[in-house]
Amino acid sequence: MPANDKNVVQHGDVNQRVGVEVIRARGVDVEKLIKMLIANAAAEFASTYYYYTILRMHLAGYEDYKEICEDARLEDRAHWELIVPRIYELGGELPNDLPAFHDQAGCAAAKLPSPPTVVNILTLLMESERCAIRSWSAVCDMTFGKDPRTYDMAARILNEEIEHEAWFIELLARERDGKIIPSGHFRRGEPGHAPYSKNAPFYNP
Ligand SMILES: [Fe+2]
Ligand SMILES: [Fe+2]
Repeated sequence: MPANDKNVVQHGDVNQRVGVEVIRARGVDVEKLIKMLIANAAAEFASTYYYYTILRMHLAGYEDYKEICEDARLEDRAHWELIVPRIYELGGELPNDLPAFHDQAGCAAAKLPSPPTVVNILTLLMESERCAIRSWSAVCDMTFGKDPRTYDMAARILNEEIEHEAWFIELLARERDGKIIPSGHFRRGEPGHAPYSKNAPFYNP
């Protein structure tokens, strides 16, 4: 490409990024991707700092469920930490207004169910993971073969969201229906272990 091509970042230019130029050239709609990442960041932010916290607080008497909820909560925090730098690298930014940020979330607004029974809480946790699986799959689809950095991040997060759904299916099936539907889960090494998104070793005795 000629040096004066407007799609090519010029020598010494700090207002454009080659890291964006190359993914745009491969067909990524960067503005749309930034919007999706902000929506997903808002969903992870709301779930880790608020939603899963209040849900866990209401799982009194179910210490095992609390622990699994806490793993899912802290892994969402790891997701948040991964997404935010990527938004800025792509030239985006977080909204400078918390309510506006919350309102852009890609998943339904977080609320304690009424009544906050264990079955109702497990149902919400499961459905929240399902929303996350759909949202991260969309980012994987958009970036596959075009933006390896965002794809790698989204695929790591998606791996954990799929595990989270399986955990809550297992617990809800037993609690609500008396059914055994194994998730393959034993336990994380420590709360919020996040083997995929923190690149931590898997439980492998
Ligand atoms: Fe998450
Ligand atoms: Fe999750």
